[in-house]
Amino acid sequence: MPLNNNPIEGGASLPWIIVGYGRVGQSLALLADQLNQPLTATWNRTQQACAEAALPSPNPTYGKLSDALGPLLSAPSLIWLTVVDDAIETVFEDLEDSIPAGSVVVHTSGSQSSQVLAGRPDLFVASLHPLQAISDPRAALKRFSRSFWSIEGDDQAVAFLCDLLAPAQIEPVRLEGSRKILYHASAVTAANLLVSLIDSAMAVAGAADIDADQARQMLVELANSSLENLAFKSPRQALTGPAARGDLATIEAHRKALAELDDQSLLDIYELLTARALRGLSD
Ligand SMILES: NC(=O)c1ccc[n+]([C@@H]2O[C@H](COP(=O)([O-])OP(=O)(O)OC[C@H]3O[C@@H](n4cnc5c(N)ncnc54)[C@H](OP(=O)(O)O)[C@@H]3O)[C@@H](O)[C@H]2O)c1
Repeated sequence: MPLNNNPIEGGASLPWIIVGYGRVGQSLALLADQLNQPLTATWNRTQQACAEAALPSPNPTYGKLSDALGPLLSAPSLIWLTVVDDAIETVFEDLEDSIPAGSVVVHTSGSQSSQVLAGRPDLFVASLHPLQAISDPRAALKRFSRSFWSIEGDDQAVAFLCDLLAPAQIEPVRLEGSRKILYHASAVTAANLLVSLIDSAMAVAGAADIDADQARQMLVELANSSLENLAFKSPRQALTGPAARGDLATIEAHRKALAELDDQSLLDIYELLTARALRGLSD
């Protein structure tokens, strides 16, 4: 798209279309409201999914994408593809021919680059990822300005989205598309696998006859205190416990006790993370 014919130059406001009105889609609808941006329509696969959305849409659509959204796409728009990662490419292909030239198309996957949206040189494309575990759209909106956002895509789309989000105190950081998968693996390790790790700790606590609810609460409180330390100190400084103190006899006693449990993975997790802690964490 030549710059002298660029409908997104100069802070232009585009109508928003949210394709995939799930958790992220709904939190973006709230963001549109906060930013005074016009939300034209949202899309779910079925009428039932539209009806079950926690946040009512001003214009819910469903069914075949080109039929549902085609008639609403008469002018350049900001099209959010907030469907599950595996459907982004197909959904884009289904909608591609209906998208007016000069539109901005953006997906919110943390693992995929905007390459999946390539193919129409007259569109501006990007991927924009809020690094947050989004469940409730209202809670997500409140945390948006505190969250890290990564952005990647063509220069015009990146500039347009950064300008658009600035009034919400959201300042996305540009990443290389080819690096996104490592960025996402890092995020999954810190957030999703932390849940897995606490689940393992709960299993060990269960073997010590501690009730599951009690174990979850005590371990989350404990983990929070470690995370609070980590917010202000390096991993090496924040680490406490036997590996930090060099209490090797205690570590050996843990190994023996864990080896007696039915679940080998509990010992494996302990061994792997203890080895990393004993090797020395980063400053
Ligand atoms: N939740 C998070 O913590 C988070 C954070 C950052 C980024 N993201 C990214 O944001 C995107 C959306 O995630 P989400 O958590 O909002 O997911 P979600 O709540 O499960 O919503 C997914 C949406 O995708 C639609 N969908 C599911 N399968 C589909 C298919 N085969 N074809 C077309 N549409 C399909 C669903 O349609 P129906 O409503 O009709 O079922 C729903 O609207 C993903 O790319 C995800 O990686 C998520």
